[in-house]
Amino acid sequence: MTAKIIDGKAFAAGVREKVAGHVARLINDHGITPGLAVVLVGEDPASQVYVRSKGKATIETGMKSVEHKLDPETSQADLLALIDDLNNDETIHGILVQLPLPAHLDEDLVINSISPAKDVDGFHISNVGLLGTGQKSMVPCTPLGCLMMLRDHHGSLSGLDAVVIGRSNIVGKPMAQLLLGDSCTVTIAHSRTKDLPEVARRADIVVAAVGRPEMVPGDWIKPGATVIDVGINRVDAPEKGEGKTKLVGDVHFESASAVAGAITPVPGGVGPMTIACLLANTVTACSRANGLDEPEGLTA
Ligand code: GUN
Repeated sequence: MTAKIIDGKAFAAGVREKVAGHVARLINDHGITPGLAVVLVGEDPASQVYVRSKGKATIETGMKSVEHKLDPETSQADLLALIDDLNNDETIHGILVQLPLPAHLDEDLVINSISPAKDVDGFHISNVGLLGTGQKSMVPCTPLGCLMMLRDHHGSLSGLDAVVIGRSNIVGKPMAQLLLGDSCTVTIAHSRTKDLPEVARRADIVVAAVGRPEMVPGDWIKPGATVIDVGINRVDAPEKGEGKTKLVGDVHFESASAVAGAITPVPGGVGPMTIACLLANTVTACSRANGLDEPEGLTA
């Protein structure tokens, strides 16, 4: 069997188009422009790239984008004061503090100081609790993107066996909650799981989010299963020339795609969906803040 490739880039383009349509309605019918504020503390090059692409994507959908670039030495009090200002700014509907933060800042305290209604990352403890209890919440962007692609591929996920490999707060745990919400039978596997290959082989859906290059080979995959690869790992690629690198996922694509029914590639799978879902969450937050209908198909 050769797997269907789930084209995350094309899917993300569709999500962005839906977001742009909803933004246009908010502006034209209600005079409201959704606004997203991104806060970056320090000069981490990867974070700078992320923040730039988030800003560009926000503007492309017609929303307002605000960037706050703060000195790496910024004090906790100054960062909390900025977040307080953004919490009280009616033109801002979404706030994202880029992680990781410099070591002298308390990440949990900072995230939990964001108004839960504006927490477009879905990392605030209130949103974690709401998601865990099946209530309306802001949902972390990467798992939301995975859920959208799975729903699109399968229609209903009800009754399917799902194995999430990885137990991070950002991907593994919320992914498991979302799959449970769609009535999957969910296993969260991790580095201490006994006989991980056997556990993975039971799954109709495998979500790999461990951050280990090509850890999941094809013989861990049940024939016909759907494989969602969240990993983005940069590795050496001597075959491309000296000093060259390439991106690979947590799944060994070549062997897994020979067994799976459907699979997301790296790059071009889950990655593009993360920013698309950030935009979706911003328009959702804006709609909720104004008591308006939520955009259809853009929430969990
Ligand atoms: N750093 C890397 N990915 C993310 C993300 O999704 N949200 C935030 N806030 N920081 C990140």
